[in-house]
Amino acid sequence: MIEQRLVRPSGSPRRAAVAAPVTPVALGDVQANEQERLSTGIGEFDSALGGGIVGGSLILIGGAPGIGKSTLTMMALANLLAAGHRTLYVSAEESAAQIRLRAERLSAECALRIPVIAETDLQTVLATIEQERPEVCVIDSVQTLHSSELSGAAGSVAQVREVAAELMRVAKAGGTAVMLVGHVTKDGTLAGPRVLEHMVDCVLQFEGERERTYRTLRALKNRFGRANEAGVFEMCDQGLVEVLDASSRFVGEATRAAGSVVVCALEGSRPLLVEVQALVSRSELAPPRRVVSGLDRNRIALVLAVLGRHAGIGLGTADVFINVVGGVRVDDPGADLAVALAVASAVRRTELTVAGGHRPLACFGELGLTGELRTVAHADRRLSEARKFGLTPVVEPERHGTLRSALAAALGGERRAEPVAA
Ligand code: TYD
Ligand code: MG
Repeated sequence: MIEQRLVRPSGSPRRAAVAAPVTPVALGDVQANEQERLSTGIGEFDSALGGGIVGGSLILIGGAPGIGKSTLTMMALANLLAAGHRTLYVSAEESAAQIRLRAERLSAECALRIPVIAETDLQTVLATIEQERPEVCVIDSVQTLHSSELSGAAGSVAQVREVAAELMRVAKAGGTAVMLVGHVTKDGTLAGPRVLEHMVDCVLQFEGERERTYRTLRALKNRFGRANEAGVFEMCDQGLVEVLDASSRFVGEATRAAGSVVVCALEGSRPLLVEVQALVSRSELAPPRRVVSGLDRNRIALVLAVLGRHAGIGLGTADVFINVVGGVRVDDPGADLAVALAVASAVRRTELTVAGGHRPLACFGELGLTGELRTVAHADRRLSEARKFGLTPVVEPERHGTLRSALAAALGGERRAEPVAA
């Protein structure tokens, strides 16, 4: 790689001969000032960012349309403005009047004072940023800005790259932190924002089901803090509200019926108790249906295969529906066991509760391909969260080494699996 950069493609080392070399400096001699951070006034947002917005940084906020990206960024700007910071909201999607209507709904008091421009031309936006010199600027969205210096429609890979690169140049020069909003389809495959992940300092993913109220904001990458930090929000009439007691809500709402179990999941570094539900019914289709929400489909396929092979619960002719309640997405191998137990409980039509009590059963653990239960990160945090809500004993890898043993503990005795009834 280094060779390629120094030597021209023709093989002539001309550039290496012409360029003046620089003297490398030991890292210990490099001046590194403590990064100043601006608080968004939204605790969960700040913690996903690792403690607030770093001046001059580039943050990408991805999410499906309608998830609340405009709402979240606008609330952050309103709070920053209230704290005396200069802000700018660039909308390349909505008219100023539409943005005003959203701002009117928000509880943040300064929302109507946010300076906005509704503009799709990149060069105009750059000139405005250079003139206004905001400390924090939101670009909503990176896919709808258009550079007239490039051909191609707005949102094409070349355009999105150019827009981000130019914004980065102006932002770093003027010390403006830029939040780029980007639309990502549900499976995250849309070309747009994904091509920017390597350029930006932080990538935040805003996810959840649009029709449900709960959303999670997760840091996928963070040059100034831990990746994988996450916060839970609820979409209300006055905008997004942080959900600080998510576990308590989800446990309180848990159904305690056959096919339901609570997973001690980890959202970033925080434990979260959330209900996983399964429904199994005889299929009329070949191949049968696998409908999954809030979990990774490939992971579900693995769990169902392990259930068939190592627990005698064959689902080859059954439709299986799996749902994480509340629209939360759980990206955690520790949810494997919850899926297995929820499905087994649905097949056997047996409620899973903590022995003798009316509380739902809690569990966590990763499933291995040979039917073993594998330990997952931060078991202690998961256990103490379950303990907090009285959901002990927890079915987990330390106490049960295999799926069979976990099933026996949860369902009481190792009975033969019944065939799936309609
Ligand atoms: P929006 O922020 O426009 O989503 P995005 O920018 O990601 O496309 O808002 C998404 C939805 O949230 C929208 O359908 C309306 C709803 N909403 C509320 O329920 N309450 C509110 O206070 C606001 C502002 C929006
Ligand atoms: Mg929007």
